Amino acid sequence: MCGIVGITRDTSVAGDLIKYLKKLEYRGYDSAGAAFSDENGLERVRRVGKIANLEKALEKGYEKYTCGIAHTRWATHGGVEERNAHPLFSSDGRVAVVHNGIIENAAFIKEKILPEGETFASDTDTEVIAHLISFYYENDPVRAVAEATSRLEGSYAIGVMFSDRPGEIYASSLHSPLVIAQTEDGSYLASDVLALPDRAKEIYRPGKGEIGVLSGKSVDFYDVSGNRLEKRPSEVGDSEKDVGKGSYEHYMLSEIMQQPEAVGNTLRELVYGGEVHVESVVGDTFISDKMDQIYIVACGSAYHTGLVAQLLFEKYSRVRTSVVLASEFRYASPILDKNTLVIFVSQSGETADTLAALRLVKETDAKTLSIVNVKGSSLWIESESSILTRAGREIAVATTKAYSAQLAAFYALALKFAYLRKGLSPEEYAAKCDALLELPEKIALTINMTRNKIVSLAKRIKDEQSAFYIGRLLDGASAAEGSLKLKEVSYINSQCYAAGELKHGTLSLIEEGTPVIASITQSGVAAKTLSNVSETKARGAYDVVITFEKYADICKDASELIIIPETDEIFAPSLTVIPMQMLGYYTALYRGCDIDKPKNLAKSVTVE
Ligand code: F6R
Repeated sequence: MCGIVGITRDTSVAGDLIKYLKKLEYRGYDSAGAAFSDENGLERVRRVGKIANLEKALEKGYEKYTCGIAHTRWATHGGVEERNAHPLFSSDGRVAVVHNGIIENAAFIKEKILPEGETFASDTDTEVIAHLISFYYENDPVRAVAEATSRLEGSYAIGVMFSDRPGEIYASSLHSPLVIAQTEDGSYLASDVLALPDRAKEIYRPGKGEIGVLSGKSVDFYDVSGNRLEKRPSEVGDSEKDVGKGSYEHYMLSEIMQQPEAVGNTLRELVYGGEVHVESVVGDTFISDKMDQIYIVACGSAYHTGLVAQLLFEKYSRVRTSVVLASEFRYASPILDKNTLVIFVSQSGETADTLAALRLVKETDAKTLSIVNVKGSSLWIESESSILTRAGREIAVATTKAYSAQLAAFYALALKFAYLRKGLSPEEYAAKCDALLELPEKIALTINMTRNKIVSLAKRIKDEQSAFYIGRLLDGASAAEGSLKLKEVSYINSQCYAAGELKHGTLSLIEEGTPVIASITQSGVAAKTLSNVSETKARGAYDVVITFEKYADICKDASELIIIPETDEIFAPSLTVIPMQMLGYYTALYRGCDIDKPKNLAKSVTVE
């Protein structure tokens, strides 16, 4: 996590360092800092807390600097203290470093490479990078960065300045995102395209062992031996741009409202002419009769979309499917052979656990497919094939529109598999394709039909200590996501259970007024879930049922009934999640939480 930026040009940089750093605040917001270089050497300012604190500190006295690097931190090694904030300096003060990633062999470097008795001013892993670069620095900065980075294990994207090289920034990366751009007025680096000026239409992504040198007038690249490289820039894609939050107070609400478009844009490329077109990404081998095992590997909300897909793959295609958390997958000895397809799901395409799992699978004969929202991300590049979700840039830490787009992509894939493996007749397949294409409209309708009720409900539950989400089968998958949405933004301790499980222990936690949110949309289990809801109500729960009009009668005793539009029940998760997302949002709003940047979290989890 963490975000880095760097600027070198002819005009003052402090204001823009803050401006672009703020665009990266989603990557972490424990502390922030900046360093500047000029002919007098290096100057540094660091502050604990949000970037606004650093901004205040830089208000006066820093206008003169035209070269600087800055950092927003999500603490991994070392507490949230000013001495652990970046930039970190070498002990001789010759080198300043900002870093995103984790250096796994920091202890080894301290003990075995750096001189004995070297003193460290922070508890961070990053500080060894500054010390190491200084250790190798005589008068060739590229060589020093190359030598130092060749000793690093783990992941890094770094921006480096030297006290005797004013106006120059050196950059390198391994397994952590880094983009570099040259515009007519200067050279820029950042962890994300979002934090580059809008006029940067072309970007460079340094490859393994490549070192970028930003001098204001130019950007040059060198290999580890110091040879100059000819590197071609790539264009900045539309999906990489921030569309802003429009008239909404928060990105999260704006992104909830963008869901019809996110799902529509995703489906438009996958479903047309009455059928699903995934041939170009999912070749014959992926869908042949021989494919006998699917793994879905992801984290957090992306994992929850896998829970939906698993039920569909198994029901309609009869392929064994396992959904595994990426952080568990690589340590769990999965059985992977040429008849296995592993699907990775990720909004950012940079989640470290998911990437580590992908790299493990690539060492086997299994096929890899990713469902990813960021074109050009590591997951997108490294998987054998990819389906791009078209949610556009997602800024709020809590995912909403990317989640909905992932679900849509999974639906398309599930229908195609089912049809090819004869789990659906041509007529059923065509009907389901049509129903799938209606989802954007139905999502818009769901927002309109449920928003007012959700606002009142949020006011009703905002002071609760805990909440429960329950459901069976596809409703259980939605419950998992709904529960996560509430807890991550409102900090209410919400838990999710398969509805039938409550009586095996959790019912003891239900008290007078405890909110229990259930979705009931699956015909085969609707009555069963309803009984489970009644069991909680009998113990005092405030039960909220999200359901179709056709079940309104049987659910009429619920404390609150939230009606969603009718749809083929396999697509219900795309609709039931909408009021749940809004419940998370509005509850957090009435509790006064920092909705777009919940405490302790970061948008892109680039550490394992
Ligand atoms: C929750 C949320 C996270 C992400 C998870 C995976 O609202 O956003 O749980 O889903 O960190 O991130 P990606 O999809 O970028 O791999």
